[in-house]
Amino acid sequence: MEGGRRPWRGPASFCVAGRIVMAVKEVLKMGDKRLLLRAQEVVSFSAPELHALLQDMRDTMRALDGVGLAAPQIGVSLRVVIFGVERNPRYPDAEEVPQTVLINPVITPLSDAMEEDWEGCLSVPGLRGLVPRYARLRYQGRDEHGAQIDRSVSGFHARVVQHECDHLDGILYPMRIRDLRNFGFNDALFPGQNVREE
Ligand code: NI
Repeated sequence: MEGGRRPWRGPASFCVAGRIVMAVKEVLKMGDKRLLLRAQEVVSFSAPELHALLQDMRDTMRALDGVGLAAPQIGVSLRVVIFGVERNPRYPDAEEVPQTVLINPVITPLSDAMEEDWEGCLSVPGLRGLVPRYARLRYQGRDEHGAQIDRSVSGFHARVVQHECDHLDGILYPMRIRDLRNFGFNDALFPGQNVREE
């Protein structure tokens, strides 16, 4: 999910004393067929490729000020997502979400209740839509070391998890908008407002 307004400058890496310290990957945009695939389960948690992938994802998410990113968004068709929102004094109402690596996730709604709220996506830049999501859910999966994750969450945390895990099944948030009148450009939907892109 989108989370900020820093300009995108394209793929980049920065080399300090011969050591690559950052690898910002290109984020695929809606229309790219790779975003529509069902991603594959991770089978090895010790593979160096997994840890390199996670570093690329963290660097890319940080550079774009996102609140979440799924591996397929950088062209890697594996069931890996990262997300997290730290407390930010500029957005005192924004809910905190722990920094999380979630691999092979399974989501179980804890009630039928749905909530609608605005979402953005790094693969759908500049736009926002009103998206229904389960209000409460349990998510399970593995962290980067293969340890079990099992959390029951609600609200914004639950929304971010659903948004990111949808990417693993080839679903982008515009496909879930009920009324396309509630879909548009940030600056037209929220004129003059310093809206945070989540
Ligand atoms: Ni997204």
